[in-house]
Amino acid sequence: MQKRTTALLVMIVILGGAVVFGWVTMRRGFSARGTPSLMEAFMARSMRNLAIPDSERNATNPFPATPEVLKEAREHFADHCSTCHANDGSGNTEMGPNFYPKVPDMRQSSTQNLTDGEIHYIIQNGVGLTGMPAWGPIHSDADTWKLVTFIRHLPQLTAEEKKDMQRLNPVSPADEMEEHEKHAH
Ligand code: HEC
Repeated sequence: MQKRTTALLVMIVILGGAVVFGWVTMRRGFSARGTPSLMEAFMARSMRNLAIPDSERNATNPFPATPEVLKEAREHFADHCSTCHANDGSGNTEMGPNFYPKVPDMRQSSTQNLTDGEIHYIIQNGVGLTGMPAWGPIHSDADTWKLVTFIRHLPQLTAEEKKDMQRLNPVSPADEMEEHEKHAH
């Protein structure tokens, strides 16, 4: 009898929790405004990192931070990644803060504490249900490793390097026209 009451109570609590969760989710709708709660962010991140196979997590980056590797990766990053992540990896772009979850500041420990293999895996495979695309289908493995080397370098990025990246940031033909007209006047 005692056991049955406990089981019933547990079920009521679980059901109650599910109803509250459902209600809150429905009220929030599918909006990407706002920021995930600490709990939601923690759960999503832990699950994401746990799902990375050990062999990938412990893989070593074959590309040391030589000036050539850094230059190539910096140019690649400016062209493919900066629209969302910004040249300095801060995530301070037009779109960056409006993703759910928002684009992280990759200079911070939450990114820098990931292993090289984890960063490599995330770039190759993207992150499901977020705005982070999988680059594996269009990048070589070597390209991705070089991007990992560059992400490690982000906290020490110099002003000159940042400036150099600007000339490689994608611009639409319409934007280019606008700039051209501004200078013509
Ligand atoms: C369309 C926007 C967009 C583009 C373009 C993009 N990313 Fe991301 N990226 C995101 C979002 C959003 C996240 C956050 C995902 C999450 O919270 O798990 C993210 C997360 C990451 C992370 C994980 C960082 C962390 O601490 O969790 C890495 C590494 C990363 N991106 C690298 C890249 C690289 C390298 C490129 C270019 C080849 C790139 N991204 C292009 C949107 C983008």
